[in-house]
Amino acid sequence: MTGNSENILEINSIEVMYDSVISALHDVSLNVPKGKIVALLGGNGAGKSTTLKSISTMLAAERGKVTKGSIIYDGTEVKNQSPYEMVALGMVQVLEGRRCFGHLTVEENIIAGAYSRKLKKSQIKDELEKIYGYFNRLRDRRKSQAGFTSGGEQQMIAVARAMMAKPKMLLLDEPSMGLAPQLVAEIFNIVRELNQKEGVSILLAEQNTNVALRNADYGYIIETGHVMLHGTADELLNDEKVKELYLGISKEGRKNFRDVLREEANKKSA
Ligand SMILES: Nc1ncnc2c1ncn2[C@@H]1O[C@H](COP(=O)(O)OP(=O)(O)O)[C@@H](O)[C@H]1O
Ligand SMILES: [Mg+2]
Repeated sequence: MTGNSENILEINSIEVMYDSVISALHDVSLNVPKGKIVALLGGNGAGKSTTLKSISTMLAAERGKVTKGSIIYDGTEVKNQSPYEMVALGMVQVLEGRRCFGHLTVEENIIAGAYSRKLKKSQIKDELEKIYGYFNRLRDRRKSQAGFTSGGEQQMIAVARAMMAKPKMLLLDEPSMGLAPQLVAEIFNIVRELNQKEGVSILLAEQNTNVALRNADYGYIIETGHVMLHGTADELLNDEKVKELYLGISKEGRKNFRDVLREEANKKSA
């Protein structure tokens, strides 16, 4: 239970229920080593967001609860902490759908991320400069109303705001969603740079398996609340099942993992 100090995050066989009856995760275990990027992959409804919210303790707001297993973050069990306490411990989640305060400027949105740190004005200015060093586009748009910026810029605002909290660990929920490939590449480059230069550990939920694995160190594939497969990013990119099911290299239509495993079992027993 004390955990392995090489890992900033360890999830041990968690089960999650919504409204005490809807079971969303059945048995999810995963580790995030310190300083690494780990991808959590799977289709719509697989349980990616639920996993992230279990870690950031945002489940309670949706009447969700971890009913079995344990989550160890930075040596401490995640149990009854509030999302605010988790942020103070360096765990910051960027929610799906890149929410920003539309009526505030880009810069006001980014500064809002520092609310948990008691910074002086001059310190905020320094932190902003550092953040703009990664997000050049946002520097140009700093005075614009956030609601009028593009989807890609809003995703960048959300990540920049999260970085203002000086996280040890970032949880990113589908940063590529709805964005053109060029912007997805731009955002993933920034995410990688933040990981390398700031040393922030990252758990990244994605449906875009290809982009996620090209930028991550390790990956877990989940379906209907179960981990189906995990491995290094290279192992998964070269795995025949992953190619067929998640990388769109299949000749037939899209299947799911269970069907493929069942077919294989049938072939063996035939
Ligand atoms: N607030 C909620 N209340 C009840 N069920 C939910 C809620 N959020 C998600 N679920 C269910 O939990 C499962 C996993 O959802 P989710 O974690 O959002 O998947 P993903 O992020 O991979 O698309 C789905 O079956 C979904 O319908
Ligand atoms: Mg989701």
